[in-house]
Amino acid sequence: MTDKTASRPEETASWKKLTALAEIATQTHNRERVGETDRFEKYSIRVGSLLVDFSKQRIDRSIFEGLVGLAEESRVLDLISAQMTGEIVNVTEHRPALHTALRTPADAKLTQVTQDIEREQDRMLQYAEAVRGGERNGFTGRRITHIVHIGVGGSHLGCELACRALNRSGIEIRFLANIDGAATTHALTGLDPETTLFVIVSKTFTTLETLTNAHAARTWFLERTCDKTAIASHFVAVSNNAAEMTKFGIASVSQFKLWDWVGGRFSLWSSVGITIAIAIGAPEFRKFLSGGAIMDEHFREAPIAENIPVILALLTIWNSNFLGSQSHAVLSYDSRLRTFVEFVQQLEMESNGKAVHADGSTCNVHTSPIIWGGEETQGQHAFHQLLHQGTRTFSADFIATVDPEHNHPDHHRWLLANCFSQSQVMLYGTANQARDSTKVHEVVSGDHATTTILVDKLNAEALGSLIALYEHKVACLGMIWRINSFDQWGVELGKRLAREIYRALGSPDSESSDGPTEGLVRTIRDRTTSPFNDGDD
Ligand code: F6P
Repeated sequence: MTDKTASRPEETASWKKLTALAEIATQTHNRERVGETDRFEKYSIRVGSLLVDFSKQRIDRSIFEGLVGLAEESRVLDLISAQMTGEIVNVTEHRPALHTALRTPADAKLTQVTQDIEREQDRMLQYAEAVRGGERNGFTGRRITHIVHIGVGGSHLGCELACRALNRSGIEIRFLANIDGAATTHALTGLDPETTLFVIVSKTFTTLETLTNAHAARTWFLERTCDKTAIASHFVAVSNNAAEMTKFGIASVSQFKLWDWVGGRFSLWSSVGITIAIAIGAPEFRKFLSGGAIMDEHFREAPIAENIPVILALLTIWNSNFLGSQSHAVLSYDSRLRTFVEFVQQLEMESNGKAVHADGSTCNVHTSPIIWGGEETQGQHAFHQLLHQGTRTFSADFIATVDPEHNHPDHHRWLLANCFSQSQVMLYGTANQARDSTKVHEVVSGDHATTTILVDKLNAEALGSLIALYEHKVACLGMIWRINSFDQWGVELGKRLAREIYRALGSPDSESSDGPTEGLVRTIRDRTTSPFNDGDD
């Protein structure tokens, strides 16, 4: 992973070859490529319950071979093996990135890790089953009907995604992530303390948002129950920091371990997924893990030209490094996946939003594109206008389900018709329409690169495979760009400055170090109707 003798990506022979291919490729509209025989069969791959169709990408055989050559030259298959067998791939924090061990049957080299995982996984799943089955109830004996999951970033987004997609338990699950009193009030409104379980998830157990909300929840709970011993039945926590969990008052039986070799944004497979496990039960949670394992095996074993996470990574590189695409949209044509884009956004942008290589040298090529998107078809009535007629270049993933498992077949038919027609427009534009009837303001250029992922049924196994697909794509991008996808130092400076401004907001004498910020702080101090007390926390 850290081989300093290897070339930077742009110095490889494949990168140079692709640069030459891109010059020709940009002169050809994609509609001229896609007419080839068996295009769909050539450029689509099935893994488990996912069908990934990349036939609308701006590639032909020689470009595809050039991209495969880049992955080979980057020794991607060796690097995948290194990552999955526990080599130190997170070099700045000197850690492996072993989230795959949480779901893939044991690797011989990882016996100790596997034993730890199994022990903790069994404990967590037993706890979840006890909550679901009514053996672990609130302090007055009533069953748990509501969960408030408190966590942010990787300790939140995956859990919310999976719970929104799969929760059929009847237990209402609320997510509290933001440091915004309005969100805290909203999350607690109408809850009955006797039937509410608070799940606090924080790898560090020091994160401002999570700890502030956890303390607010505990205060809310104690004001209503007036019984400190009741906390044991209503607060459960997952962290790498046992001392802080204990200090907060979490009973040892309700503490679950997260290892330092699991990055936050890759952690939902661990006890971080306890909320998911309560929502879907232990057998389904195991299917979720095996869905991830199906993709792990494919990622480790499939040759590069058939390896779908590697191909998606190569297409990202082709679109953004060679064809100048500035952003990538993730468009979910299934409401149950409406927060999928937020999950992928953290996964991709926090992992690969880097400007230095793993060896510390500066990147001369762009790394992660900006990831955004939303729930469809709403986006079609909001931002698709820019996609169709704007001046920006982008690529997009369309995600839809074959069998929606509801009783509105005509809705589904329309949903799929919209999904497929949008990628059709993004490919062909108005080119196939009668020329003389298309006025200049109606012209749509097309020629945008899209991938469509069809999920057979959105069950636990399929969701596991889908999430693992994106995880591996992200890791593979890091391997080719030669960056460390597993740290996130860029977020630290903002956290430190927020602490300084927090102090300035509460004390009239303190000044912020810069004029513009001082102006904002002064405005708040002058105009707020409820001044902050110095030392408020
Ligand atoms: O600030 C970014 C970050 O560290 C993410 O990487 C992480 O997922 C999130 O904050 C939450 O961190 P924790 O789980 O330690 O509360």
